[in-house]
Amino acid sequence: MANSSLNFPIFTFFLVTLLATTITTTYGTFSDEVSETIILKRQEETTHLHFYFHDIVSGKNPTAVKIAEAQSFPGIGFGSTFIIDDPLTEGPELTSKLVGRAQGMYALASQNNPELLMVINYEFVEGKYNGSSISVLGRNPVMHDVRELPVVGGSGLFRLARGYALAHTVMFDIATGDATVEYDVYVTLS
Ligand SMILES: *[C@@H]1O[C@H](CO)[C@@H](O)[C@H](O)[C@H]1NC(C)=O
Repeated sequence: MANSSLNFPIFTFFLVTLLATTITTTYGTFSDEVSETIILKRQEETTHLHFYFHDIVSGKNPTAVKIAEAQSFPGIGFGSTFIIDDPLTEGPELTSKLVGRAQGMYALASQNNPELLMVINYEFVEGKYNGSSISVLGRNPVMHDVRELPVVGGSGLFRLARGYALAHTVMFDIATGDATVEYDVYVTLS
């Protein structure tokens, strides 16, 4: 009898603790650490993507359309902003295999030079990357031979992506404004 009356408060203590724990965990946790090994495993992979970006501003079916311009800088001047849905192909020809689309916007963000602010998602349709995308936010001084644009994120297989894109113009038609740009993208998962 002496033993069971001693054990009763201890049992009650455990029961209360158990209930309290259950109630706490029901609400979940706001943040949690992800196992280091999972992070390290993802970091090992670096992916190189190579494709051609076709910016078509002329003709009946443009893939880049101007949506705004500044009154004080008419024409293609400072402040001009375009929305694009540009095809990405495997080779430099527009007729080569479609591997994705570049959807987003660019704006002339320099008062004196053709320098763009690029805010663009590159969504892929090819192979295992079908449905995955990378997000680019960067400065694009289009007259430079090679421009470096930061990859700030991604989705699908590119979730938590970090990296950079190197853009090099291979064709620019001064009469129409159409351009083809070769991209080399290096992506790691952080
Ligand atoms: C990509 O995925 C979409 C939707 O899941 C599918 O309709 C399409 O056929 C796929 N494309 C390729 C090239 O596998």
